[in-house]
Amino acid sequence: MTRLELLPVQPLLTPDYEIRRTEIHDELRRRYGPVAPVDLLGISVWLVLGYNESLAVLRDDTWWKKDLRYWQAYTDGRIPANWPMLPALECDMMVFFDDQRHKKARAAFERAVKPFQDLSLPSARQLKTVVAQHADDLITFLAEDGGRTGIADLGSQYARPLPLMVTNRLLGFADARGDEVIMDVWRVLDAGPDAPAAIGRLMAALQQLVREKRARPGDDIPSYMLAEDPSVSTEELAWELYLVMGTTSDMVGALLCNTVVEVLTGDTGARACLSAGMVGEAVNRAALAHPPMQNLTFRFPVAPVRLGGFAIAAGDPVMVSPAAAHADPLFAQGTDRARQAMVSSRAHLAWGAGPHQCPGQDLASSIVAIGVQHLVERFDEIQLMLPKDQLHWRMSPLMSGLRSLPVRYTMAAAKAPAAPVEPTVTAVVDPAAGTSANRPRSAFWRMLAGLRRRPDAG
Ligand code: HEM
Repeated sequence: MTRLELLPVQPLLTPDYEIRRTEIHDELRRRYGPVAPVDLLGISVWLVLGYNESLAVLRDDTWWKKDLRYWQAYTDGRIPANWPMLPALECDMMVFFDDQRHKKARAAFERAVKPFQDLSLPSARQLKTVVAQHADDLITFLAEDGGRTGIADLGSQYARPLPLMVTNRLLGFADARGDEVIMDVWRVLDAGPDAPAAIGRLMAALQQLVREKRARPGDDIPSYMLAEDPSVSTEELAWELYLVMGTTSDMVGALLCNTVVEVLTGDTGARACLSAGMVGEAVNRAALAHPPMQNLTFRFPVAPVRLGGFAIAAGDPVMVSPAAAHADPLFAQGTDRARQAMVSSRAHLAWGAGPHQCPGQDLASSIVAIGVQHLVERFDEIQLMLPKDQLHWRMSPLMSGLRSLPVRYTMAAAKAPAAPVEPTVTAVVDPAAGTSANRPRSAFWRMLAGLRRRPDAG
């Protein structure tokens, strides 16, 4: 048995991890093979770099558990209370459930999200229209004060707000309260000084939403989850909705940016896919080249197990890395990346695999595809304002997303907005709520207006 704590380990998250991630993983692979011990913000963990080893772990939820109670060092009290990753792990959400609890919560979620993912159903078709309208509104808004050409941060002015606005519809928030919640999600995700107050307000708003949906169900995820399991507690459902908000807003936005970058600069054939009208495949290739969840939250073996070159003790933290697995030569096979992508792009791990595989992947892909499609339709040209290797990535052990995506654009002449409009979230979601012109500016739109033509390129 290898004692993880006794192995000399190097920090995984070096300052250049986002830029040199593939080289860093390759170095670890050369040194240790498909599984490597690494230091993660001061804690030793096993990083799974091999594609086959990743699949073996992800597919077997009998042997590999997610509940933190299986983590030996954690239950022994050896993880410092201020370890920075704890807030992301100590969450009472499905992705950390095991066994029956997981099966039950997952089944309820799958049924609740189906109306929005299955295009044979009216809510899914309506949602596509909502996404398209939000995308149009945001593009119109970002270019409102300019001429045909301009500069924008497609991250904060488009990729980030678009999925958050869609979340409002999925969760069934009414009126301006949805806008306020969006602002609070932002404050939490940015982890700034107002984050603690924002998470308090956010959880209170989500619990209030659950209570309202219990009393008056609607065509939305919380109502469908309550219909599946009326006994679920208000607190537990609020946590699941928080997961939906976080993943929808943060990761969908990240994949949208990653797709734009891949189309503009990548070598996986994403641009050719887009030119051929295969926008879904372009998104898929971006997910392969740059998975928004670069590393997954831990799994813990219930008993000692051999993985890669090591005998891993029961209760050791094991982190599967989709980003590393995609670069595993056994997965990538050969050197022609565009060809490989053709062959293997559907087998990637950007959505995970096995019993915890993302149940929202069709929805997420669809939002990103519509977002990308609208950029193609509304702009004649989009150019990065920085070389690819100078783009600013967020520093996160789990997520891989850009801090900003500064671009120069030229609007397509025929599609340039005829007259400036100020859209509102609810004008699209609820046609009865009034037109954009007669609604007051919310904090959300004022904030977006403040970002216009001031992209954060630094
Ligand atoms: C680009 C966007 C997204 C990416 C890259 C993504 C990725 C993932 C991955 C890799 C997992 C597996 C985690 C693990 O095995 O440890 C996961 C789980 C999950 N995702 Fe997504 N996701 C995205 C969007 C969404 C959306 C839009 C929703 C909801 C509408 C969603 C809901 C969930 C849920 C509930 C789980 C937990 C499933 C379980 O534990 O059984 N995700 N996601």
